Amino acid sequence: MDISKIITGVPMDPQSRQPMYLQIAWIIGEKIRGLILTSGTKLPPERELAALFRVSRTTAINAYRYLEQQGLVVTRVGSGTYVAELSTGTAEEGSAVPWMQLMTPFPRLPLSTVLRELLDIDFSGGSISLAAGMPDPDLYPVELLQRIMSGVDNSINPVDLGHIATEGYGPLRRLVARLLVDRDIESTGENVMITAGSQQGLYLLSKALLEPGDYVVVESPTFIGAHQVFSAAGARILGLPTGRSYFSMLEDYLVRYRPKLLYLIPTYHNPTGRVMSEAERRELLRLAARHRLVVVEDDPYSSLYYGEKPPASLKALDTYGGVVYLSTYSKVLFPGLRTGYVVANPALINRMALEKQFIDLHSNNLAQWLLCRFLASGALDEHLTLVRSEYKKRRDALSKALRRYCGTDLSFELPGGGFFIWCRLNRLFSSSRLLHQATGEGVSFVPGEAFYVHPPEGEKELRLCFATHAEKPLQEGTRRLARALAGIKRTGKDQDTIVNQPVKPLI
Ligand SMILES: Cc1ncc(COP(=O)(O)O)c(C=O)c1O
Repeated sequence: MDISKIITGVPMDPQSRQPMYLQIAWIIGEKIRGLILTSGTKLPPERELAALFRVSRTTAINAYRYLEQQGLVVTRVGSGTYVAELSTGTAEEGSAVPWMQLMTPFPRLPLSTVLRELLDIDFSGGSISLAAGMPDPDLYPVELLQRIMSGVDNSINPVDLGHIATEGYGPLRRLVARLLVDRDIESTGENVMITAGSQQGLYLLSKALLEPGDYVVVESPTFIGAHQVFSAAGARILGLPTGRSYFSMLEDYLVRYRPKLLYLIPTYHNPTGRVMSEAERRELLRLAARHRLVVVEDDPYSSLYYGEKPPASLKALDTYGGVVYLSTYSKVLFPGLRTGYVVANPALINRMALEKQFIDLHSNNLAQWLLCRFLASGALDEHLTLVRSEYKKRRDALSKALRRYCGTDLSFELPGGGFFIWCRLNRLFSSSRLLHQATGEGVSFVPGEAFYVHPPEGEKELRLCFATHAEKPLQEGTRRLARALAGIKRTGKDQDTIVNQPVKPLI
C-alpha cells in the first residue's frame, strides 16, 4: 500500500492559524479514525513524512507526538511509528472501550498544548529555560513552611480536615480580605473565594458568565491560559492592542459587540511587563461604568515590584462594582500550592461556588491551612522583601546581558516588576525560527505569537522569564541566545523560508 498517496491527498494551508504539525496530525488521524489506515500499519519515518508535507523534521516529529498523545499511533523504538489498535482502547491496555471515539470534541486551540509543555521543562539536561513563568525553587520559603508543619501535631484542629465550605477555609478567606486592605481593596470574607490557582478562578468565571458565542475582550498579547479558557467556553475573542488606539477601539467593541467581559492584567502584564498608569485605569473604569461592563482584573504580579510601587489596582479604584479581582500565591510563593483567590460580588461568588462544587467540592484543606498559618505569621512580607531584591538583580542581569550579547538584534523596555522581559526581534526572521535555533544551543523562550489573538501577530517578539534562574545561568542563557542569532545570520538567510509556519515551543 502506498501510504504517501493516502495521507498527502488533503491540501495543507500554510496561512492557517492552526500549526502545520496539527494539520498533519489531523489529516493522518482522520485516515486512522476512518479505518483507511488500519491498526498495525507502518507509517512513514519522520524524515519521509517531513519530505511528503514539505515541512521540517521537527514538525513531523511533533505531528507524530501529538497523534501518540491522542492514542492513535504507537512508536516502537528502533522500528518506527505504527497505527495503534483503536478498538481495544490504546490509552488503557486491555480495555474494550473505544475511548477516542467516546470523547467530546476538544476545542481546536492551536496553542492548547503550549502551557502544558511549558510546565514540562527538563531542567536537568543542561538546557536553560527562560520560557515558563515560574519562581525559582531555590527561593521557595521551605524552612518557614517546615517550621509551620512541624507544629502541625499540636495545632491542627481535626475539624479543619473534614469538608469545608466550597468558597474556601473560613479563616483564610477572612485573612485574605484583611490583607487586601494593604492594596486598598475593601472586602470581607464573603467577597473572597479560594480557588485552585487563578487558572481555576478564570475557569469558574467563564462557567458562571459565558455562553458559546459571547464576546470577550482581551488585550492582545495576553496570558495564554486566559485566552484558552475563554475560547474553550465558546466565547468569541476580541483582541485589544496596546497603544494609542486602546480606548477608542475598546469603546468601539463595547458599542458594536456588547462583550460579556473585559480581561486585563494591568500590573506587570504577562507577557509584556507593562503597567497601566493610574490615569489610564481611571479612564478605563469610567468607560466600563458607562457600559456596565464586567472587568476581570488578573493580578498575580503586583507585589513583585523592583522600584516604585505600582498604581492602585482597578479593584481599589472601582466605584461601580463591576471589577472582579483575581490573584494567586503561585508567583510570590510557589505554584504547587495551587492556591489563589477571587474577590467579587457575593452573588457571583455564590454562582462560582456552585460551579466549583461540580469539579472539586472545595480546594485542598491542608494547602489552605498551611497558607493561612504562613500569612498569619507575617512571613509573607519578609519573603517578599527577599524575592523582590533577588528578582531585581536578575532582571538587571538579564537586561545587561541582552544589551551586551544581543546588541541591536533585540530591543526591549526594562519592566518595573513581574517576571518577564518582552523583546522585539529586529531581524527579518521570526522568533519561532530563532527558537528552533536556540533550543539547539540549549536555551528556550516563548515566541511572541503564542500570546496573540491572531498569530502570526507577534512573530517578531519573544518573552524571556528572568525569575527562574540566578544571574549566572541568565548570562549563559543570553550568550546561547546570541549564538543562535549569530547562527541564523551566518546562514545568510536572514529571512524565514517557510512563511507563517508557527512552531510549537520545544522546551
Ligand atoms: C496573568 C496570569 N494569570 C494567571 C496565572 C495562573 O496562575 P495560577 O498558578 O495561580 O493558576 C498566571 C500564571 O502564569 C498568569 O501569568
